[in-house]
Amino acid sequence: MDIVFATNNENKTREIRNILGNYCNLLSLNDLNIKEDIPENEPTLEGNALYKARYIHNILNMNVFADDTGLEVDFLNGLPGVKSARFAGENNDSDANIDKLLSMMGNSKNRKARFRTVIALILEGEEYIFEGIVNGRIISVRRGSDGFGYDPVFVPEGYTRTFAEMSLTGKNKISHRARAIEKLRIFLDGYYSPQKK
Ligand code: IMP
Repeated sequence: MDIVFATNNENKTREIRNILGNYCNLLSLNDLNIKEDIPENEPTLEGNALYKARYIHNILNMNVFADDTGLEVDFLNGLPGVKSARFAGENNDSDANIDKLLSMMGNSKNRKARFRTVIALILEGEEYIFEGIVNGRIISVRRGSDGFGYDPVFVPEGYTRTFAEMSLTGKNKISHRARAIEKLRIFLDGYYSPQKK
């Protein structure tokens, strides 16, 4: 079965191909020579993920899924949330985003936060949503140099190191994205299990 992942991000595609394994032949937009930058203007992660999946489904009429992720900070009532990539401005600068986050949080005692990934799947014309969450807290000084985005200031619950101090393999065992993809994998596994064929 072919399934399209509505992204041009080859790192994400590789990571997801790795998790989904042999269930399906995962195709990225690059594989299909689709160069469009799909707009992400919806007010929620679910809205953006669905918009992207529908956008590509309308072009290709193939099975497709899309994802959207945000960091949701309790003290900031869920911000940066859907605005995570461009929190400090249009150019998606992680350093500036972290600076803005830390300055808005000040010395707040409530440092609770979570990363949330939403995956929207359109399979045989039906829409499905999957969610992966990792809870944690925001520290006030950056630590670590691996990873990307807000990783240097996010410590997952039950750990002492930030995501940026973990190996990629370690992070991928517990990350929001990995959890959402695992739900997608289990769903596809059930959908295409021998009993259903
Ligand atoms: P996207 O929807 O995966 O493109 O994620 C949107 C934004 O959320 C990214 O630009 C990052 O700022 C942030 N983000 C997503 N996933 C992670 C992560 O695993 N670590 C740190 N930041 C992330």
